[in-house]
Amino acid sequence: MLNTRKTLIATGLASLLALPGLAGAADADKPMFTPKQMTDWLHLVMSSDRTVYTRMIVNRLQNKEKVIKASEHFEDEKALVLPAQMFRFGAEMVGEATDDFSYSLLSEWPINKQNAPRTPVEKEGLAFIAANKGENFYATEELGGKTYFTAVYADVAVAPACTTCHNDHKDTPRSDFKLGDVMGGVVIRVPL
Ligand code: HEC
Repeated sequence: MLNTRKTLIATGLASLLALPGLAGAADADKPMFTPKQMTDWLHLVMSSDRTVYTRMIVNRLQNKEKVIKASEHFEDEKALVLPAQMFRFGAEMVGEATDDFSYSLLSEWPINKQNAPRTPVEKEGLAFIAANKGENFYATEELGGKTYFTAVYADVAVAPACTTCHNDHKDTPRSDFKLGDVMGGVVIRVPL
């Protein structure tokens, strides 16, 4: 009786797992999407969060309601952090939690020297997205004996505030950014 019941349960499970919708659950560790899809999705989340922070926090409270401004020196000035700082703090927190993947907002013309490209692929990617507007850059790279899939997405001057602040900043190496220019790029790196 016990054995029959076990068999019944086993058969039941087997047929359940054979259902197309459930079969995937057993394969959760097997890649079911490409590295490109993964970096594209990660980038979508990052850029959406950054836009939401810019529009609903910074632009609303600083420009529309004039409650509080955003400033690079947010602690001294009791201000909101800039969207680029918000982005970097998030990336640094991810870096503390895992070595599996990483991301950063880099530029060939960085205000913060920490945001300069370092690897040949980062440099090639930033040059590519600046020269080919509207296109992303994808490559594989070897770092520390590991192979990574590295994607670079353009960061475009979508508002006059982007160019004015960067062009006038005391630490900027470039002062002729125009609306629509590629100012840098988001680099996302996942292991292969
Ligand atoms: C009020 C000034 C200000 C505004 C407005 C601003 N930025 Fe920045 N941006 C900065 C500062 C300061 C940094 C360096 C942040 C850090 O410490 O990492 C930075 C960083 C960046 C970086 C990384 C490379 C670098 O310069 O360090 C990119 C790319 C960038 N900003 C693009 C933009 C774009 C695109 C916009 C408009 C959507 C924008 N910024 C708006 C001040 C500004």
